[in-house]
Amino acid sequence: MDTSVLCSWIFAILFHLCMVHQVQCDCLEDDLQIKGGSYFLTKQLKKGSIAVFNCSDGYYPYPHLRHVCQPSGKWDPEPSTRQTCNLVQCPDPTVFENGIVTPYLQRYFVANVTTYECYSGYTRRGSYSRTCLPNGKWSGLTPICSRDSGNTCADPGIPAGASRAGNILYVNDKVKYTCNEDLILVGPSERVCQENGQWTGREPACYYKYTYDTAVEVSEAFGSAIKGTLTTLQPIDDTQDGRKIRISKNGTLNIYIAVDISESIEEDYFERARDAVVTLIEKIASFSVTPNYDILFFSSEIYQVVSILDFHDGKVVLNSVIEDLKNFKIDDKNTGTDLNAAFKIFEERMAFIKQNVEDEKFKEHRHVIILFSDGAYNMGGSPLPTVAKIKRLAYMDLTDGSRDEYLDIYVFAIGTDIFDDDLQPLVAGKDGQHYFRLEYDTNLNETFDEIIDESEVIGLCGLHKDYETTGDKVSKRKRYPWLAFVIVQGASPKRCLGSLVAPKFVLTAAHCFQFGDLPEHVTVEIEDRPGSIVKKVKTFTLHKDYDISARVSKGVKEFYDFDIALIQLEDAVEMSALARPICIPCTQETNDALRLTRASTCEQQEQLLLKNQYERLGFLTRADPLVQKKDVFAKLKEMRPMCINKALKADGITTDDPTVAVTDNFLCTGGLDYRREHIACTGDSGGAVFKNYKLRTIQVGLVSWGTKQLCSAGGVVESSEDSRDFHINLFRMVPFLKSILGKDDQDDYAPLKFLN
Ligand SMILES: *[C@@H]1O[C@H](CO)[C@@H](O)[C@H](O)[C@H]1NC(C)=O
Ligand SMILES: *[C@@H]1O[C@H](CO)[C@@H](O)[C@H](O)[C@H]1NC(C)=O
Ligand SMILES: *[C@@H]1O[C@H](CO)[C@@H](O)[C@H](O)[C@H]1NC(C)=O
Ligand SMILES: *[C@@H]1O[C@H](CO)[C@@H](O)[C@H](O)[C@H]1NC(C)=O
Repeated sequence: MDTSVLCSWIFAILFHLCMVHQVQCDCLEDDLQIKGGSYFLTKQLKKGSIAVFNCSDGYYPYPHLRHVCQPSGKWDPEPSTRQTCNLVQCPDPTVFENGIVTPYLQRYFVANVTTYECYSGYTRRGSYSRTCLPNGKWSGLTPICSRDSGNTCADPGIPAGASRAGNILYVNDKVKYTCNEDLILVGPSERVCQENGQWTGREPACYYKYTYDTAVEVSEAFGSAIKGTLTTLQPIDDTQDGRKIRISKNGTLNIYIAVDISESIEEDYFERARDAVVTLIEKIASFSVTPNYDILFFSSEIYQVVSILDFHDGKVVLNSVIEDLKNFKIDDKNTGTDLNAAFKIFEERMAFIKQNVEDEKFKEHRHVIILFSDGAYNMGGSPLPTVAKIKRLAYMDLTDGSRDEYLDIYVFAIGTDIFDDDLQPLVAGKDGQHYFRLEYDTNLNETFDEIIDESEVIGLCGLHKDYETTGDKVSKRKRYPWLAFVIVQGASPKRCLGSLVAPKFVLTAAHCFQFGDLPEHVTVEIEDRPGSIVKKVKTFTLHKDYDISARVSKGVKEFYDFDIALIQLEDAVEMSALARPICIPCTQETNDALRLTRASTCEQQEQLLLKNQYERLGFLTRADPLVQKKDVFAKLKEMRPMCINKALKADGITTDDPTVAVTDNFLCTGGLDYRREHIACTGDSGGAVFKNYKLRTIQVGLVSWGTKQLCSAGGVVESSEDSRDFHINLFRMVPFLKSILGKDDQDDYAPLKFLN
């Protein structure tokens, strides 16, 4: 017997064992190969493992995207010897009507560029030129050539790869779309011309099985859709008679999140999804809306993290839910996927809420369901009937579309093999994209993190990115958008740091100024737009009690109490992700940032921010690029006396009572006894001493003076045994801050709202 025959005999016997006797057999790696690409295995060669092919950008695996290891030890589908990486194609653009597409090709590949011209008598809307992108989509907008002749609705065009039925464009006329060849229709298959001249829904698109929405597309589309919901409920600041007032809108927002963690999705997916949900919730919280959440993971079973009923009963608060979610683990997850079970839970919860609040109130409830799944359910049946019930509840049995805005169902289709036909019909909602088709390795965490950075939240104090994507100046600014450089020209020019605390105000140290300095001697640098750096100064105000020589006779040559100043800029800084104010103590804005109730007090803020004996804080120093952060610990409570005692070792101090130099108005950092920490250098003065709370930054202090001159050149320098820094504690400076920033009898700027 020659060896190949022998081998096939052995395989035949093994195969028989695997099939008939349920012996666990591993799949064979030898069967897998791909020309020009690679693959990876989700669970080695064990049953249920998925071999996912991977090609470089602009290519896709062909003929298969993946294989699943069957209990029999066979890959499904059967591996092909022709497995390779093919060039990505874009759907056929020549469906374009009333014009010419150049070049006219049989197939259009990635990087091919097309242009669209209309026959004479027709005018074009949409893009003139489109490029085939690496994810299988055309750049730009569908080009449309039309002779709009009195129709109610404008010609909606034909998306690449599609066919359209319906050419009559009057009220209630319908157009229907299908996709050609093996393309999948993503979006509505039908649109209706409305009286207002708009088509219902959004334009559908034709996707190949390998076409995905990029992270940027998702964060833009989902971001603007969810922002629509959040901002209808957000308390708004309105201006009346030059005063800013807050209007609370009616309504309750219920958000239900379900994450499919069944076998059909890879192993580490659970943790990644969990982190992404945390990020999403944190993002939503930054809108100052307080939704109720129902969060669950599911396979054949439901793993509930929090029930929305506990929110309605006031039994849980957001922060504890986020903690629970972060710590949530599932050890033995069951196989199987019951998509319907997740929707059934949500339906029950909604019905329960409806029963427990009157109809009048339930009318004001909005519901947002967010599902993450590949759609491959194998038990529980189709969720469609349950979704129909959910719609009836939210629409309050109205079918005229008048309550469509009260329910949004978003589906994030994610996995190595997506069951679009099962998932797409689940979406609901009035405007915006609700179905997202994601590549299995999309970083959802980052996608959600990117969502909210625009107009609606630009004024929110302290909102920042807590990591740097590129490490350049721009990503530094996004991390410290309140950063300001202050330069005072004089006999001896002084370089200080400052912090933007309102669109027109920068906080810095009083000692940066000298007697006789004028506003025109002061330069403030904030790069709110590329290239726009220097801000003109209108005026500046030092604390009235700042007097450096006040305690010379008591043995303190330079006395820095009340070392604080506010600079008013000529023009407001343009708010964006690159420039927005830091939160300061005892304002309403800071209550919101700390997620305290609106009635919380200044003391409660202080207790939350400065609660430990060693409280971790940070401040910045000039560096390349831009700045670097220094880590310090404020010594509070019983640790404070030892810390301020070191002031006695400073030059120019002859008193033996440290509190003469370091009053209660200072925070003390530095030394080696707790942890190694950093020390302030010349040039760090005036900068914010801050604490991050979730995605928000709160300034608690201001860099003032120190016992040792360890670094006149700047930079990140470690503290020595005896070196200590003293920072003005902003909680003690509230009257000063309020007297300017809270001033509400002027029309020059919007005052901050200070707590009583
Ligand atoms: C997929 O391939 C690309 C380039 O071919 C590589 O950069 C990437 O790390 C691969 N991804 C995985 C998950 O193997
Ligand atoms: C389209 O792309 C294919 C594949 O890269 C290339 O061979 C072809 O020359 C391109 N055609 C045009 C007209 O750009
Ligand atoms: C809020 O609801 C109350 C009573 O339900 C109603 O009188 C009021 O006009 C509503 N306010 C807004 C802003 O819709
Ligand atoms: C997700 O993002 C948050 C910040 O939003 C970060 O702290 C966390 O480490 C990220 N997790 C992963 C797995 O990337």
